[in-house]
Parts: sequence; structure tokens; C-alpha cells
Amino acid sequence: MQTAVSTSQYAIELEDRYGAHNYHPIPVVLSRGEGIHLWDTEGKHYFDFLSAYSAVNQGHCHPRIISALVEQAQRLTLTSRAFHNDQLGLYEKFVCEYFGYDKVLPMNTGVEGGETAIKLCRKWAYEIKGVPKNQAKIIFAKGNFWGRTLSAISSSTDPSSFENFGPYMTGFELIPYNDLEALAKALEDPNVAGVMLEPIQGEAGVVVPQEGYLRKVAEMCKAKRVLFIADEVQTGIARTGRRLACDHENVKPDILILGKALSGGVLPVSAVLADDEIMLRIRPGQHGSTYGGNPLACAVATAALQVVTDEKLSENAEKMGVLFRKRMQKLIEKRPDLVSLVRGKGLLNAIVINDSEKSEKAWNFCLELKEKGLLAKPTHGNIIRFAPPLVINEDELMECCDIIEQTAESFKQ
Ligand SMILES: Cc1ncc(COP(=O)(O)O)c(C=O)c1O
Repeated sequence: MQTAVSTSQYAIELEDRYGAHNYHPIPVVLSRGEGIHLWDTEGKHYFDFLSAYSAVNQGHCHPRIISALVEQAQRLTLTSRAFHNDQLGLYEKFVCEYFGYDKVLPMNTGVEGGETAIKLCRKWAYEIKGVPKNQAKIIFAKGNFWGRTLSAISSSTDPSSFENFGPYMTGFELIPYNDLEALAKALEDPNVAGVMLEPIQGEAGVVVPQEGYLRKVAEMCKAKRVLFIADEVQTGIARTGRRLACDHENVKPDILILGKALSGGVLPVSAVLADDEIMLRIRPGQHGSTYGGNPLACAVATAALQVVTDEKLSENAEKMGVLFRKRMQKLIEKRPDLVSLVRGKGLLNAIVINDSEKSEKAWNFCLELKEKGLLAKPTHGNIIRFAPPLVINEDELMECCDIIEQTAESFKQ
């Protein structure tokens, strides 16, 4: 069996020939990563400005996380939950204390976290709130993204996510994001069990709601005995300049969903946190997964969270984010014909390219950035997300802003 690809071109050809065509990547083939740096098969260096959709907040191949991985991998990797393992309880205690919840339910991917949260919410609604059987409703915001399962696409407003995959999950309702009046109206239905929101809509193009929105949502939910479910899979774990994006408004969600950076980009590790009244609705046999809570994931996630605290990544994200948006604001003044807006929090930011959603301009801009050594990708049409690993320092950030600026200066419309 062949174990190495000779050129980037060959690697791309192999993927095209043997892999499903469910992604459209920027044409770069990466073979090594360290911190904020990536290298392709030809040895060309890049700054990573995507961080695997905010999974690599701690930087690529963080030595402490990798060492936790290797150490645990040599002892025990998987037992399934048919037996106990000596890592799970320690991790559960650590993660519950870290985020301030009674209990955690460990899963693997972010979308499984979302599925778990919805199951928990429905069960709570039937057994505690008293919603009639099969009538529970979950409210989502238009533009949401929480993955690709049938439930996730059933709440999606993006035709490329849901078209021709029906029939869809029932009991979901969509309202506009950042619209408290619409929420108030939706909450009039006594069968509403939960409201599931991203504190900032990542895939929709880093859409930041007005200040106070999350606090008000949480208050309104509480008043109607509805659970506020925060999908912090992308915004959580220091990305927006706080441990959780909800921390910006001192909001504690009833159900918290985490994923991505929970493992620092090393393994698929997700978690759902809630207090006992909600979490203890699920009894043995009612939910789980073979790999959820495996000792390897537990050791890795513990190290990944410790790195976030020890290296003060929230603080750094907050500081670097301010500098980044300042630089992008200057770029807008210079090139308003090309860039119309910068928005974001911490190091979850996006620029809006002055163009229609359908055109290729943002994609072409990312191709130019790649040539100049910076990797980013459009989220939606004309919006480019910039989300480097949170270990980036000021000098590095300024160098990256120079690349973005130079690319804009030479960019042909
Ligand atoms: C907010 C949010 N939730 C959930 C998910 C799904 O995570 P995963 O791809 O690990 O299933 C994503 C992925 O981008 C996300 O951004």
C-alpha cells in the first residue's frame, strides 16, 4: 500500500477519484501543523486562519495535548460504556467544575451534541414540564448550522443542507435570529420545550446579535419554563474572548453543547452539560455511543481545557480580536469597493466582500490569500471567516493582517 503522496496535485486527484464529493476544499494539501502554522506537501508555509472551523483553538499539535494523547493511547483507548474506565469520572468532574454544571454527557461530534441536547430537552418537557406526548416543540433561529444529521438539516434554512433529503423531523420551528419579538410570539405556545441558538451564528457568516440578546432570550425562556440550549460548538472554549460566548452576557444556558476545541483538534470529542433536573431524565439504555466518554478522549479533553486556562487563551483572543478588527476597519477605509464590513468577537471574525452572495469574488480572494501564505475560506458566498488559533501573538497577527491588506491591494476585481 502506498503511504505517501508525491505531490499536492496527486493527493487532490486521489480524493477526487476515491472520495465522495461532499466538500469543495481550497486547493491546498496540508501535511504538517504546529501552533498557528501549516505546511503543504511541497513544504510551503501558511498561517492558519480557519483553525478547522475553530476546533484547533489551542494551535496545531499542541505538545501538552499530544503528550496526553500518546500517554493515554499507550495504556487504554476504548472500553465502551459496558464497563467503567479510570479516566471518565475524573474528566466528568473536571469538565462539570470547569463550566459549572451538575453533570455532563460525553459524545463525539458536535452534531451528536445537538441531537443529545434535543433528546434531553424533549424528555424534560414530557416528564417535568408536562407537555403532552409527542407535542414538544424546539425553536431554532433561521441561518442556524449545527451539522448534517437528519435532525440538523430539518432545522436548516439552507437549501444545500436540506434539499432532497426529506422527509424531515417534526416539532421544530424557525424564527428570525436576533429578533426578540418573534421569540416572544413563538413562546406563547405552551408546548415549546426549548430554544436552541448559537450565541454567534458561525456558519451563517459570523452573525453577531445585538448586545443583550442572549440575556433576554434566557430570561424569556425562564419566564415560560422553556430550556435555553446554547450551541457553543463553534463559539465556545475561548474563541470569542470568553470561556463561553454566553459569558459575555453572564448567561448560563440550561443545556450547553460543546465540541470542536474540546479536544484541541485532536479527536472528535463533544459534550452536553446540564443540571440534574434535566440530565437525570436520561436513564441507562436511552442514549449513548460506543466511543462517547472513551478514556483517550477524556485524557485529551482534560489537557485541551487545561491549556486554555494556563495559556490564558480567552484573554489573548479578546485582545487580538480588537487589534484584528481595527486593522480590518482600516482596510475598509482603503478599499471600500472590496470590503464592506468586519464583524465578530474575540478571534471569531469575518469580513464581508462587497459583492453579491452568488459571485466567486470571496473564493478568489481566498485563493489569492493562499498564494500569499494565509489560509481562510468563505462561509457563505461573499463572507470570509477569519479565525486563527488562539495562540497567535501580536507580531504574528500584524504579519497576517499585512498579508490580507497586500492581497486586497493587488486584488483584481
Ligand atoms: C455551531 C455548530 N454546531 C454544531 C456543529 C457540528 O459539529 P460537527 O461537525 O463536529 O458535527 C458545527 C460545525 O461546524 C457548528 O458550527
